[in-house]
Amino acid sequence: MTTRARVSIVGGSGYTGGELLRLLLGHPEVEIAQVTSESQAGNYVHSLHPNLRPVAGRPQPLRFTTSAELAPCDVLFLALPHGQAQGRIEEFAALAERIVDLSADFRLRDGQVYQQYYGEPHKAPDWLGRFVYGLPELNRECIRGARYVSGVGCNATASILALLPLSRSGLLLPERPLVVDLKAGSSESGASPSAASHHPERSGAVRSFAPTGHRHEAEVAQALGRPDVYLSVTSIELVRGVLATAHAWVEPGVGDNELWRAYRSAYGAEPFVRIVHERGGIYRHPEPKLLAGTNLADVGWDVDTRTGRLVALSAIDNLGKGAAGSAVQCLNLMLGWDESAGLQFMGLHPV
Ligand SMILES: NC(=O)c1ccc[n+]([C@@H]2O[C@H](COP(=O)([O-])OP(=O)(O)OC[C@H]3O[C@@H](n4cnc5c(N)ncnc54)[C@H](OP(=O)(O)O)[C@@H]3O)[C@@H](O)[C@H]2O)c1
Repeated sequence: MTTRARVSIVGGSGYTGGELLRLLLGHPEVEIAQVTSESQAGNYVHSLHPNLRPVAGRPQPLRFTTSAELAPCDVLFLALPHGQAQGRIEEFAALAERIVDLSADFRLRDGQVYQQYYGEPHKAPDWLGRFVYGLPELNRECIRGARYVSGVGCNATASILALLPLSRSGLLLPERPLVVDLKAGSSESGASPSAASHHPERSGAVRSFAPTGHRHEAEVAQALGRPDVYLSVTSIELVRGVLATAHAWVEPGVGDNELWRAYRSAYGAEPFVRIVHERGGIYRHPEPKLLAGTNLADVGWDVDTRTGRLVALSAIDNLGKGAAGSAVQCLNLMLGWDESAGLQFMGLHPV
């Protein structure tokens, strides 16, 4: 019998923690050791994640423990609100050889950029350089075998995946800034209710959330290696999902041939990125609804060859490719397993 890796989740009562748990319970190489919640300690995990209610023949139902009760394990996933992991990173690192932190605490390399976007000094700046940014499509070789990997911002993931082929291919006009309009579902803001998430206020909303200055801008700039990338985020009527619509410019005359080549070159061998650029039908362009529960990213484009105006598109599930899915993909790379293990779900249609 092979030994499974013992994995614990800190912050398992939240939305990304619940999604991680769902993926890891189906992972062939993993055994869940502990799942923490300060507010729900002692309660069954399925009391908050009813989709994970146990069935006969499966392992015993899990109960939440507090993070103070964590025991050593092989891999620790941290799914805590922003700012928590950096204050306790030494404590967590003493418990596990490998850590994947889903928060924004270790995504940026530069402590000053972190302070600029997050409004306070980083509490563990020495650790910033020890984490690898956990987007396999960007950083696969560095993630392989790494001990510490950061999660990804969901809006950042959608933006980066839309623009990466254009950036790598050199097709973009360097003097034109990049503007990414993001439409985002409500689960982006986590499980804690707020005035903004109250049903009468949220339902049916098309609400400008961050027209300028969104924090994920720093991640996208870092990933693409250019400072002139600007994000605008709008909350829309969706639970899971992000659609990035990136506005960019290429030389007039650049058309589908060049763009197919750029996107195929970037993603032709990627296990979770699909190029969606169809001539007909209602699913001609990427659409997040189809991707709920998956680790897939659908990317595409439209171009006006007369003017060089290019619109690059990317759709993901913010809890999937934008959080827990990428984190599990990173785990697979870190431990040298099949990169797709535990991530085979293809989504639902209709949904
Ligand atoms: N939601 C998304 O789409 C998304 C996407 C990518 C990345 N992320 C990032 O992932 C992280 C988790 O997001 P989420 O949406 O899952 O948040 P969430 O639903 O609010 O869950 C947060 C979790 O942290 C626990 N927690 C809160 N304060 C704590 C503390 N002081 N000490 C220990 N545990 C604490 C909470 O449980 P108790 O209060 O019961 O302890 C809960 O389990 C965030 O940093 C977020 O930025 C989120």
